[in-house]
Amino acid sequence: MRSQHILRRVVIAWLAVVVTTAAASPRAPGTAAIASAHPRATAAGQEILDAGGNAFDAAVAVSAALAVAEPYSSGLGGGGFWLLHLAKSQRDVFVDAREVAPGAARPDMYLDANGGVRADATLDGPLAAGIPGHPAGLVHLARRYGRLPLARSLAPAIRLAEEGVPAHVRLTTGLRFRRAAAAKSPAFSAVFYPNGEIPAPGAVIRNPDLGRTLRSLAARGFDGFYRGETAAMLVDGVRSGGGIWTLADLAAYRVIERQPLRSRFREMTIVSAPLPSAGGIALANMFNMLAGYDLGKLDGVSRKHLLVEVMRRAYRDRALFLGDPAFSSPPVERLTSAYYAEGQRASIRLDRATPSAALPGAPSDAGQGSDTTHFSIIDRDGNRVAGTLSINTWYGAAFIPPGTGVILNNEMDDFTVKAGAANWFELVGGDANAIAPGKRMLSSMSPTFLESPRGVAIVGTPGGSRIITMVMLAALEWIDGADASRMVGLKRFHHQFLPDLVDYEEGALTKDEIAALEQRGHSLRLNQRSYGNMNVVTWDFATGKVEAATDPRGLVEGQIY
Ligand code: DON
Repeated sequence: MRSQHILRRVVIAWLAVVVTTAAASPRAPGTAAIASAHPRATAAGQEILDAGGNAFDAAVAVSAALAVAEPYSSGLGGGGFWLLHLAKSQRDVFVDAREVAPGAARPDMYLDANGGVRADATLDGPLAAGIPGHPAGLVHLARRYGRLPLARSLAPAIRLAEEGVPAHVRLTTGLRFRRAAAAKSPAFSAVFYPNGEIPAPGAVIRNPDLGRTLRSLAARGFDGFYRGETAAMLVDGVRSGGGIWTLADLAAYRVIERQPLRSRFREMTIVSAPLPSAGGIALANMFNMLAGYDLGKLDGVSRKHLLVEVMRRAYRDRALFLGDPAFSSPPVERLTSAYYAEGQRASIRLDRATPSAALPGAPSDAGQGSDTTHFSIIDRDGNRVAGTLSINTWYGAAFIPPGTGVILNNEMDDFTVKAGAANWFELVGGDANAIAPGKRMLSSMSPTFLESPRGVAIVGTPGGSRIITMVMLAALEWIDGADASRMVGLKRFHHQFLPDLVDYEEGALTKDEIAALEQRGHSLRLNQRSYGNMNVVTWDFATGKVEAATDPRGLVEGQIY
């Protein structure tokens, strides 16, 4: 199956070479490409394109199919962002379907009597779950931008849920990891631990309840999930498991359309996520800082050192200033201005690391990978979608409200539950990201378009706090001429202000580079876990070539389909 998946992509790319040389208009590639984290999801998108759908219909199909085939990453019980490019009007739209805190949520809801954070309360079970946005996002995409009825685009996902998906390594690894939490959810266990066991690779996992919920969404749109029978089952299940959702919370959920955040670096325009994601702001800020250097003239170690210093400073501001703009007023204009970056540059030394504690506003240090998914699509008319969707960590809250088949997210962990306390991704934050009813938790998800006279790249990845720096490293490669497969295969490193560490994956730094960075004052940490699962589609204007590439890390871990 995997090889068919790759084959199809190769065929698509090959067709592109033939078809588009004549039609190499910057508006329409004349061919389509899809890169997603699961071959069944890619096939679902392809089916919908073949049925006459556009990139937005395909995005609905891929998103819904991922909810079934990659149940540990995203799903109807979660949320996400879809960045759209409308070829006809040359307009970019950001569809924000992020979860919101329930109406009964309180800033101190995860603290114990002594003010300490209650271990696992933000991660396991329904109290960890925000009100989902994913189903509303699907309805919104189909109704406002699609060509096909919602029910048609959901059909492949319904089939997958009812007929089943073979268990693969990523899926079973996640089940091992979530076993203890899942034991409290009989409905979850019934689907994912048949006979009380982790399924063998290749065993077919069926989720007929999820099929029914998808059918309800297909038939009744928003009301098929957020009102009526499905909503009642969701709320009953959540409340009996100790959660605080109400029917009113579900009925009040709304998708928000936002202006994407645009920034520039050299000849490249970066179109990325605005708040409540930190992605676009951090990318703009990092590229603005980098604009003051000639990266080509720096030796390898100095280049990496500089990238780390730039990451450190952007993540400091993430911690200090960012949160849902409906609840505070983060200084976005200032943070994304060239003037501000100039000031930050003044504190960067090329020969020495700046300790994070030495930067103004550093909170005290604190202690602690996971899942999410990204896909990229271009259609023959040049419509594009970059979608990053999540239920947060592996299998979200590891809880299914009985009768729904829907795995709840544990996205409440993305809020700052206590000033200075690190979340699952070791991120710290402040008041701007404190919990409040109806508020969207700050995200790092960064679906992104890169545009230059050379062409277009559609980029994104899971990886929690590391998402933004992964997108940044991929963008730097792209303007230096990299193709899609080099972008997804790139070795990665990361700094997020706190903990004050350069986190890197095997092969990202040579022994000599490690020694040289330590010499400059950096502490380094080898990350043993999978570093992202990037999906990229590129379109080269000169050759007309359209290329799709999936992260080899996903291939290694998910080789059995
Ligand atoms: O929105 C966020 O930033 C996180 N909930 C994303 C989680 C994630 O990427 C997990 N993947 N490894």
